[in-house]
Amino acid sequence: MKKVVLTGIKPTGTPHIGNYFGAIKPALEFASNDEYDCYYFIADYHALNQIKDPEVLKNNVKELACTWLACGIDPKKVVFYKQSDLSEVTELTWLISNVTSKGLLNRAHAYKALTQKATEEGADPDSLVNMGLFNYPVLMASDILIVNSNFVPVGQDQKQHVEMARDIAQAFNKTYGNTFVVPKELIKKDVGLILGQDGRKMSKSYNNVIPLFAPSEKLRKLVMSIKTDSSLPTEPKPTDSAVFNLYSLFANPSELEAEKKKYEKGLSWAEAKQDLFEIMEKTIAPMREKYDYYMAHFDEVEKILADGAKRVKPIARETLDRARKNMGL
Ligand code: TRP
Repeated sequence: MKKVVLTGIKPTGTPHIGNYFGAIKPALEFASNDEYDCYYFIADYHALNQIKDPEVLKNNVKELACTWLACGIDPKKVVFYKQSDLSEVTELTWLISNVTSKGLLNRAHAYKALTQKATEEGADPDSLVNMGLFNYPVLMASDILIVNSNFVPVGQDQKQHVEMARDIAQAFNKTYGNTFVVPKELIKKDVGLILGQDGRKMSKSYNNVIPLFAPSEKLRKLVMSIKTDSSLPTEPKPTDSAVFNLYSLFANPSELEAEKKKYEKGLSWAEAKQDLFEIMEKTIAPMREKYDYYMAHFDEVEKILADGAKRVKPIARETLDRARKNMGL
């Protein structure tokens, strides 16, 4: 039996370089390996606790779907779908919430961060928390368990959520007999930190992201605006800078070695940034072309997503029915 790999991305903003190297590229590598059955989805139910404007949500979903396809996901091989097309997920969420202790969810990092923030502001600890956020890990467990996932490739920040899915699966199996496959997270180690324009971790919450498919001229401007030190053009440049960090993501080993030598010898930041822009363009331009095509032909994308939903549905239905039956429903 092939192993099942599942991962999702939340449509909460325009996809950026960090999403590509942290989530999409590793997912494509699994998809090209015949040992795995891959399920990749757009976690739009998960975005609801954060995005309250329906037009913004729709646009985010559109951009994310086109991004996955532009990056080369093969929808004939991978089951590619939108979470909200699979309503079975919400029913399973209700079922598994009955073996999920509230204490488990109290320990979730995202929840704790918000209660702490509110407390520091002198407000009620739960004032910033809606139930969509609090129950987020249960919904995510449902995503994972419903297709019998063995492996869930995620970034370090999602490790706790997959651990919770595992706890929930085990608790359910203990109470109701063997029902769910117990999943395991796969954390990609060698990606490391991806730095944003200000030199901090690239993150939507820091407002320092570089969109993956910004038009070429915009990308150039963004690259040129990356924060650098005030060393002279002839002085050596640090390889722990954001400019080099980004270069290293796009470069192959020999390109990287050559650039490193230039940094050690000394080059101007303007030149270093030009090198970065060129190597980014080399990778991004062909994908951007596909992205622009899909954005302009979204009806084709919608068909692909509908087909994905049709393929995942019977599998989800089977898991849900098994859970219902074992619970006495
Ligand atoms: N929580 C994930 C994120 O914010 C998205 C997600 C939702 C997910 N359901 C999932 C990831 C299931 C992996 C498996 O990035």
